[in-house]
Amino acid sequence: MAAKRILSGMQPTGTLHLGNLEGALKNWVQLQYQYEMYCCIVDWHALTTMYDRTDQITSQAIEVAADYIAAGLDPERCAIFIQSHVKEHAELHLLFSMITPLGWLERVPTYKEKRENLGLNDESLSYGLLGYPVLQAADILVYRAHAVPVGKDQIPHIELTREIARRFNRLYGEVFPEPEQMVNEVAAVVPGMDGRKMSKSYGNAIYLSDDPDAVRAKVNEAFTCPTKIRKSDPGIPENCVVCQLRRTFDPDGYLPSWEEDRAGTRGCVQNKRELTDVINARLAPIRARRAELLADPGQILRYLESGADRARATAEETMKAVRHAMGLG
Ligand code: TRP
Repeated sequence: MAAKRILSGMQPTGTLHLGNLEGALKNWVQLQYQYEMYCCIVDWHALTTMYDRTDQITSQAIEVAADYIAAGLDPERCAIFIQSHVKEHAELHLLFSMITPLGWLERVPTYKEKRENLGLNDESLSYGLLGYPVLQAADILVYRAHAVPVGKDQIPHIELTREIARRFNRLYGEVFPEPEQMVNEVAAVVPGMDGRKMSKSYGNAIYLSDDPDAVRAKVNEAFTCPTKIRKSDPGIPENCVVCQLRRTFDPDGYLPSWEEDRAGTRGCVQNKRELTDVINARLAPIRARRAELLADPGQILRYLESGADRARATAEETMKAVRHAMGLG
């Protein structure tokens, strides 16, 4: 039996950090061996917020591709491509926009949040921003994907994707499967240096592109247990960013360090030094591969083109079925 199809998407809004690596990428690297996988760098989605900084989008997309490949996604195995290289996403988005009730979109939590942050009359509250999840549904359904690996925050978008698929199928006949979200429950939530979730927008992240000194400097600034002032004070590893990161990046070896922290026989300086070493060891091969890739952007573009060619072949088949079902053309 042919492998089931899955599609993942990521916005090219910056290079990837350890939270992306642990929360998503590590899992995707496994999935590429079990599924027919499409990895879409969604540059059109990025326009919903970066429409006035379009000059940055393509170079960021290339960096994201380098991050993906450096972290272990194999461009021969999984189609890594840029959304705007496969125009079928746009065509399906347009067709879906005709059958998606406005009320469904106005209820989407991510839209409600953005609207509240921006204010009702803000000119960046665009038609495209409201339609963001319709474009996402097109990304997924243009491959008739069975499942979508995503974080919890994306579940409403996948639910909407199913509703659009169902509505299309009811109106025009069975074309689309109803895709499932694949939420990786065991993925670590990686804290940033300030203890909040690691995020580009909080400025608390360690990037795959950071060199060893940058990692050291960031770890040295990280929040530790506030009641542990001296080395001999008992620490609470659950309240310490450094201890939490140690558990994620040294899952087999962290326990003794936690015991010493609690017992007051280990201080934060040693703890930070060792965490820096653990993270740098993990990043070293990724960093090396990344630098090698970025030294030859032409090769990355060739990977992205061949990914787009494979994606397009699948997307064209779907669009034929869609046009036929709708009686178009
Ligand atoms: N909305 C997703 C995010 O912000 C990105 C995305 C766009 C996506 N299209 C997708 C994710 C299709 C999965 C499938 O993370």
